[in-house]
Amino acid sequence: MTNDNRKPTTNDAGNPIASDEHSLTVGRDGPIVLHDHYLIEQMANFNRERIPERQPHAKGGGAFGHFEVTCDVSQYTKAAVFQPNTRTETLIRFSTVAGERGSPDTWRDPRGFALKFYTSEGNFDIVGNNTPVFFLRDPMKFQHFIRSQKRRADTNLRDHDMQWDFWTLSPESAHQVAWLMGDRGIPKSWRHMNGYSSHTYMWVNDAGERFWVKYHFKTDQGIECLTQEEADRLAGEDGDYHQRDLYNAIERGDYPSWTLYMQIMPFEDAETYRFNPFDLTKVWPHEDYPLIEVGRLTLDRNPTDYHTEIEQAAFEPSNMVPGTGFSPDKMLLARVFAYADAHRARLGVNYKQIPVNAPKVPVHSYSKDGAMRVQNVSDPVYAPNSKGGPQADSEAFPESATWGTSGELVREAYTLRQDDDDWGQAHALVRHVMDDAQRDRLVSNVVGHLSGGVSQPVLERAFEYWRNIDQEVGDRIADAFKNAN
Ligand code: NDP
Ligand code: HEM
Repeated sequence: MTNDNRKPTTNDAGNPIASDEHSLTVGRDGPIVLHDHYLIEQMANFNRERIPERQPHAKGGGAFGHFEVTCDVSQYTKAAVFQPNTRTETLIRFSTVAGERGSPDTWRDPRGFALKFYTSEGNFDIVGNNTPVFFLRDPMKFQHFIRSQKRRADTNLRDHDMQWDFWTLSPESAHQVAWLMGDRGIPKSWRHMNGYSSHTYMWVNDAGERFWVKYHFKTDQGIECLTQEEADRLAGEDGDYHQRDLYNAIERGDYPSWTLYMQIMPFEDAETYRFNPFDLTKVWPHEDYPLIEVGRLTLDRNPTDYHTEIEQAAFEPSNMVPGTGFSPDKMLLARVFAYADAHRARLGVNYKQIPVNAPKVPVHSYSKDGAMRVQNVSDPVYAPNSKGGPQADSEAFPESATWGTSGELVREAYTLRQDDDDWGQAHALVRHVMDDAQRDRLVSNVVGHLSGGVSQPVLERAFEYWRNIDQEVGDRIADAFKNAN
């Protein structure tokens, strides 16, 4: 008997259990018996505790919160979540990209910034990063890119040679690599970084007018970063530094927040803009498309069970609400498939019934059965039907959020426009946004990274890559490398 007011232990069927400490044995010193089903349940459950980690973005943490609309953007979108004074419950998960589930939080890497809004029109996800651009513009290369950042087949080690080999053979990576090697490549905490949709999406207003948009969540805590030395030290001292920081901040009531701004491009501008506005390796300069304030995201509740609420969270760019839509960004269109597929593999076909992924509105879909289904399905189980089952509304969504196109089937890059190149925006970042001290740290970070076992031909290509971004910075990297090695 328990000697206080604690609840008695049960097995998973709710049957009371006699001991938390002793197996059932033949006499005190005899063997364990097979019908100790509670011991077996404990061992069996333990053996199945781990689920596959996410392929990229395996290490992360998150929290719940809410999003409040503080400005009126109804002229651009009819989405309920963005109407004035609307408050929506949210979930966020931050992550690193290349490391495994136990890897240090402070490795140099982009950070994931994945948001789920539980809206009155179903779930709306923005699965972004803390960078406004990405390494690639064609999804065919994504799998190869991630493999080049992870582990070799033979040594099972991460390998800077492999990373620079891929980057230097993929010049479209220059903007993101320049960003990554700068100060913002290692944020001080998840609270001290911005989040970006990176992709261009669509908004549609009540009148059916369409706009191209980019989401920018700017931290209200201010941008703060770690130097390479600080990050290296923390990786040894506290691999969960960012996870701990977020959890503790929320526990002490110091709720982090971000202000959401949009860049909004009139639909017709896309056709004639000086570079392809759907190319994920490019930003839209603020001068052309200034930031328009929308509202504030605040995180105010920690999960109580990391596994059910964060590890099993499934974010997917395919979760879209009326008034929002996709764009012709090839990377985005591939992601619309990739995430739901990953969730079916990682969590099972009924992953949207896991409470953290379930919408807070009624679901009237025709999906049926499958492993781990817990919500009852009711007849009729087919459509069309004359039995009163749900009926799709052609006016609702998402057909209004689209664009026209035509052409032969080809495997080719985007058509080049006047200002489409791989180096220009990387150069602007390094030369015009970074100051002298930031450029010094950039040079030092790149030299340190290249000193980690990069082979001769790849090294030469890396110096050339940096000279293409910025001649002086490239020369400094080559000189500093040669002096240091
Ligand atoms: P702006 O001068 O209007 O904007 C520069 C932007 O750079 C600011 O948003 C600032 O973010 C951000 N920034 C400042 N320091 C760094 C750094 N060390 N690393 C990365 N970003 C930094 O110029 P443009 O809009 O013409 O863009 C110029 C370059 O700035 C781009 O090529 C791009 O690399 C970078 N950038 C542009 C963004 C955009 O959406 N236009 C967004 C982020 C970066 P903050 O105000 O939050 O401090
Ligand atoms: C995670 C695929 C590009 C942000 C993932 C996962 C896959 C994936 C399969 C694991 C999902 C899971 O198991 O839960 C792809 C593909 C891409 C791509 C195929 C390009 C073709 C991007 C881009 C961004 C991004 C451009 C940011 C703008 C994220 C984030 C996560 C993630 C934040 C973690 C989500 C979470 O916290 O659960 N990606 N990705 N990805 N990706 Fe991508």
